[in-house]
Amino acid sequence: MYNEDVLNTATIEGMLAAPGVKWHRDPPDVIGMWLADPDFPTAPFIKKALINAVQDEDLLYGTDVKAREAMADRVNRKNGFKLTKDEIYVTQGVIPAMWLAIQNSGAKPGDEIVVNDPMYYPFFTAVETCHMKPAYWKLHEEDGYKFDIEELKKVVNKKTKLIFVCNPHNPTGRVMTKEELKGIADVAVDNKINVMVDELWDDIVFDDRKHVSLATLGPEIADLTITSWGISKTWGLPGLQCGYMGVTNKAMLASCQKLAKGVLRGTTTLSLAAAQSALDRHSEYWIRDIMKLLHKVRGIATKRFTEMGCAVPELQGTYLLFPRFNFKMTHDELAKLMQEKAKVGLGTGTEFGPEGEMHMRMTIATSESILGEALDRIEKSLKTTKKK
Ligand SMILES: Cc1ncc(COP(=O)(O)O)c(C=O)c1O
Repeated sequence: MYNEDVLNTATIEGMLAAPGVKWHRDPPDVIGMWLADPDFPTAPFIKKALINAVQDEDLLYGTDVKAREAMADRVNRKNGFKLTKDEIYVTQGVIPAMWLAIQNSGAKPGDEIVVNDPMYYPFFTAVETCHMKPAYWKLHEEDGYKFDIEELKKVVNKKTKLIFVCNPHNPTGRVMTKEELKGIADVAVDNKINVMVDELWDDIVFDDRKHVSLATLGPEIADLTITSWGISKTWGLPGLQCGYMGVTNKAMLASCQKLAKGVLRGTTTLSLAAAQSALDRHSEYWIRDIMKLLHKVRGIATKRFTEMGCAVPELQGTYLLFPRFNFKMTHDELAKLMQEKAKVGLGTGTEFGPEGEMHMRMTIATSESILGEALDRIEKSLKTTKKK
């Protein structure tokens, strides 16, 4: 069964009538594509799990054991990552795990944390909030956003306490190769540096690519690694704020639990019910259908942006396209043109670091009709602008 009729149905009017900040940050004549939320309906089995949890009054102080079992089972099944429920720690989404990973690393103010440029900006926020120094491991579009291990070696020094890894990578859309992951593992193990790897997007991988979990590469890297997943991207459930960390190093897990005590209190019973349903093996058909539609819209968006004169990095994973606009204008002028003339609300590339200059980020997890309208508007707005 293909859910095309269910998934490929979003309309501008319908999205404006629904909740969610992506479609309500801007005036209603702007198409909301800046935030990494899909325009797909919530899977019926997840709605049912939430309704059942309310009807069963699962609203007292709860236990997360069953959800952790489902999380461990999913990670074993999907990534060949042999985790038990006791090696999983539930967080309020992936973002708090970034803070926790820094605290756990033992870094003191002024120590260095490796981040990419460009990278999903909450990694930068976590570094800043903890009074650490970001050490930028730059990714270059002209190299296909390759993760250059020789560059990483130059960035790492005695003050480096943690390497933040995002795979699949937001916003470049890169999925790391096994060789790149091995390179990171070698650098981390040789220098005894902790790693936090955000694998939130590991379901959204194109062209039958295989996502590899860093911690499965060997016991030494597993001992240094916190891996983090969630339900916000595949399932469109960021409002439920549910993430989970996998930590096989017992001392590290105990340290995280101690640091989080009284600060982070897991997530809600309703979120756990939804997670249990989403991560069940019987729910996988929904992901397969999402991927069919995402392959289609990726093809459309890549073709259209290329015809407009943009450079479009190959989208290997995530539903976030990151085209570069080769036009004679500044980045601010580009952002203004998209927002005010095209009336398409995109993510502005420089939010993800200086390497995002002249890029805009577009969430393509929508219907063909909304995507088509947005691309038409962008094309029209660029008609009178000179190419570089
Ligand atoms: C790479 C990455 N990590 C973390 C998050 C945030 O996840 P959560 O809402 O589960 O905290 C996002 C959201 O877009 C993301 O793209």
